[in-house]
Amino acid sequence: MEVASTVAELRALRRAMSGDTGFVPTLGYLHEGHLSLLRAAKAQNAHTVTSIFVNPTQFNEPSDFDVYPRDTERDLTLLREEGVDVVFTPSDEEMYPEGAATTVDVAGLTERLEGAARPGHFEGVTTVVAKLFNIVRPTRAYFGRKDAQQLVVIRRMVEDLQMDVEIVDLPTVREPDGLAMSSRNAMLSPEEREAATVLSKSLRLANERYAEGERDAEAIRNAMVTLLGEEPLARVDYVSVADTQTLEEIDRMDSEALVSLAVRIGDVRLIDNVTLLAHEDDTL
Ligand code: PAJ
Repeated sequence: MEVASTVAELRALRRAMSGDTGFVPTLGYLHEGHLSLLRAAKAQNAHTVTSIFVNPTQFNEPSDFDVYPRDTERDLTLLREEGVDVVFTPSDEEMYPEGAATTVDVAGLTERLEGAARPGHFEGVTTVVAKLFNIVRPTRAYFGRKDAQQLVVIRRMVEDLQMDVEIVDLPTVREPDGLAMSSRNAMLSPEEREAATVLSKSLRLANERYAEGERDAEAIRNAMVTLLGEEPLARVDYVSVADTQTLEEIDRMDSEALVSLAVRIGDVRLIDNVTLLAHEDDTL
């Protein structure tokens, strides 16, 4: 496995690769969710590249950037075990040289949900992903449905900027008790970790109501908010039932709907979602 920390090194390694190249961008502190993307990339491409970069521009709160968990040595060991070919670990200065003034902004879609709660977040994400695509030039790039809005926004960017990359999405990987895997879970105390199961429980409730025939989005939102309200450590940021393409809130769930939520458990902000009608490979 080769580790490149500069754009020039990465480009030199990339030039030596012939055949399809799969790319998995990450913030590091890898877990099974990240590894599921890597395994798919490895299975579908001749070469796999991953990046570990805690991108400062997508953290709307500097304190959140400071406490984001990091362990590059452990990550590199995991990546070596998975048989990744190249890892890109750039510095902040390498990704954002002095004087950098260009950003990528996807209008509309980024104003809702996570975008409304975290101003500037998606501009940071699309800018860094566009830069990484330019550097790595992957055939395919792999993203998790765990970050459902991020996926919709990145697909929009790729289409609008006519980027020559196929976006592949994969299901959310969960802990046995339903909690969606996230690097942020490491910041939960044992009590908070227990309380955090309320996110997936509320999605399961939405799923059940939907299976029973409920199609009134407000009834689903209310049921989720009530259940979340029973967990004293949880503070709801939003509960949403939205159109999967426009991400606008809907009244009736007559076609595919994205049910998503953001909840603070103590100081840790967690997100989760499910699509109803669900993808066949989604679990809760
Ligand atoms: P990060 O949170 O590290 O996630 C990297 C990729 O792993 C994303 O595509 C995310 O959706 C996916 N992922 C995270 N948890 C998952 C889970 N439990 N199951 C399946 N996939 C999961 O998302 C980012 O980093 C950044 O915004 C990035 C795209 C790297 C840009 O900086």
